[in-house]
Amino acid sequence: MGIVLNGGTIVTAADIYQADVRIEGERIVAIGCDIKQPGDQAIDVDGCFLFPGGIDPHTHFDLPMGDFSTSDDFESGSKAAIMGGTTTILDFATQFKGETLKEGLANWHTKAKDRSYVDYGFHMAITDWNESIAQEMPELIHQEGISSFKLYMAYKNVLQVDDGALLQALRQAGEFGALICVHCENGDIVYDLVREHVEQGKTSPKYHPLSRPPIVEEEATSRVITLAQLAGAPLYIVHLTCSGALKAVNDAKLKGQEVYAETCPQYLLLDDSKYCLEGFNGAKYVISPPLRPVQHQKALWSGLKAGSLDVIATDHCALNYKGHKDKGLNDFSKIPNGSAGVETRMGLLYTYGVLPGKLSLNDFVALTSTNAAKLFGLFPRKGTLAPGSDADIIVWDPRVSSVIKADNLHQQVDYTPYEGFEQTGKAVHVFLRGKQVVEGGHLRSDKPTGIYLARKPFLKRKVE
Ligand code: URP
Ligand code: ZN
Ligand code: ZN
Repeated sequence: MGIVLNGGTIVTAADIYQADVRIEGERIVAIGCDIKQPGDQAIDVDGCFLFPGGIDPHTHFDLPMGDFSTSDDFESGSKAAIMGGTTTILDFATQFKGETLKEGLANWHTKAKDRSYVDYGFHMAITDWNESIAQEMPELIHQEGISSFKLYMAYKNVLQVDDGALLQALRQAGEFGALICVHCENGDIVYDLVREHVEQGKTSPKYHPLSRPPIVEEEATSRVITLAQLAGAPLYIVHLTCSGALKAVNDAKLKGQEVYAETCPQYLLLDDSKYCLEGFNGAKYVISPPLRPVQHQKALWSGLKAGSLDVIATDHCALNYKGHKDKGLNDFSKIPNGSAGVETRMGLLYTYGVLPGKLSLNDFVALTSTNAAKLFGLFPRKGTLAPGSDADIIVWDPRVSSVIKADNLHQQVDYTPYEGFEQTGKAVHVFLRGKQVVEGGHLRSDKPTGIYLARKPFLKRKVE
């Protein structure tokens, strides 16, 4: 006995067409007309789009940040994800100083196991590089399903690694089939600029973006592209925010280098004027890299359309205004960095990307699902609607409109950067591996059914 979704419009990264979808067990088994079998349950999805479940390859659930952790753990973060139409997340399992990669990975498995409403995989974030870590990488790639690693060029003395570590990690990844993801900001310069501002008594949130100007991101992006070229390795830039860094990525792509880049809704829809909000409200937007002057948004939208940017992720890093952000009330450098977005990504991009014509429906699917599946070893199981693929399906009703309010979201955080934004369209039904998890905009069960996804190694696009 299967399920047939009747009368919807299927959208993939390549196509848009009207057809029915038949699900049996965890998979899509047929797409076409007259595919209903005796005993099947039929669900009428007339007037709705059917999108592949969203994939958000950049979340920080339950991430320790000193004496507290991000406020969304795997349970609340994944619940928020599925309610917004995201069915797969890739979180950053972090190796902290002194840990092996396997220890860091084991910690993240413990955090996530039996608690996730979406399927999940891990990138391994390396913060303490040495020869034995290099030796561990092949085992993670081939036995643990970890085909991407993240390194930070910022957060000096905490997460930052030096160029030597970056080069060696890129070489290992290139040789053994992984993709290196990099947070690009020159952490040494940021460290000095932050210190200078604070020493001069410039301690309010408005000095956060001034201590991390676009040029420090542009420089780091260009530098790591050079290192990847030297290593002959593919590279993925996380949360790209500014036109200079975009140009560096685009130039490398034009030269045939395998460089990919992600941006996030916050950099497309919000700008640095938020840091001048009344009182301490600018702290809500203290993220790194920071929000940029408005002209960068135009460059990013063009970069998405032109294919210079490959993925729109969220960098979901939920921190409460009260209790987390206010740790920096008297010193912006003490405001923990991050904001939440896993629940609002699909709705915002549909409303502010597709509806005004900045993105086609196919672009929307490519950027929110398909490209991440391809880059992170999940395609075609995830990222498309096709016979044989997991039945991760969003039934998107474009006739529903709403206004985003923190109180109505499932994220466990006391504000949203998008408070008051109008949204058109909604994930009315969501299927995860054939099981309907969201029905009519409501979670059907309090039992999380997400599973760990061991991912395939990265396949280089170039034949050598
Ligand atoms: O401000 C941010 N982005 N916090 C999360 C950690 C990171 O840099 O990705
Ligand atoms: Zn980052
Ligand atoms: Zn991040």
